[in-house]
Amino acid sequence: MSSRRIHIVLIGFMGSGKSTIGHLLASKLNRPLIDTDREVVEREKMSISAIFEQKGEKYFRKVEREVLLSALNSEIPAIISTGGGAPCFLDGMDYILRSSISFYLKVGRASLFSRIYGDKERPLVILKTKHELIQFIDLSLRKREAFYTRANKTILAYDNPDKIVERIIKYYNKEHI
Ligand code: S3P
Repeated sequence: MSSRRIHIVLIGFMGSGKSTIGHLLASKLNRPLIDTDREVVEREKMSISAIFEQKGEKYFRKVEREVLLSALNSEIPAIISTGGGAPCFLDGMDYILRSSISFYLKVGRASLFSRIYGDKERPLVILKTKHELIQFIDLSLRKREAFYTRANKTILAYDNPDKIVERIIKYYNKEHI
């Protein structure tokens, strides 16, 4: 694909700041923001928790993949903020690498834990005790980093959001303009 203005995709674990950074990037670069979670909810007319509960995770992953592919196929270069599992299931990461420049927003376990513990919206977090959530983050991060680290660039995402956005734009401009 042309190296001129291509999609920017943000990937990373739940709580890594993809939505916040996505909004800032979209307004700074004056691009549309496509949030795959939001697209799934709109398409299915159900919350993500309800989809997991009533239709199961496998169904969610199928819809998530469709939504991701249609975002990547859209003509107007966009900022695409993905759900934490989107690059890790089916062929999500292959598509991301083919059609965008991607950034892994990397945040350590302790920060991820404090950002998502007690969350009532995320089905993979709801009802987990502290101990269960720590174990879940440890185990899934180990598996998922095999996908996340294939991103074009890993960004340590502890800084304040404006600084993270600056670093993303700097890298994008250096590589793709
Ligand atoms: C998920 C992450 C969520 C959402 C769903 C599953 C995951 O998105 O897609 O609850 O598997 O990590 P966020 O990363 O935006 O929370």
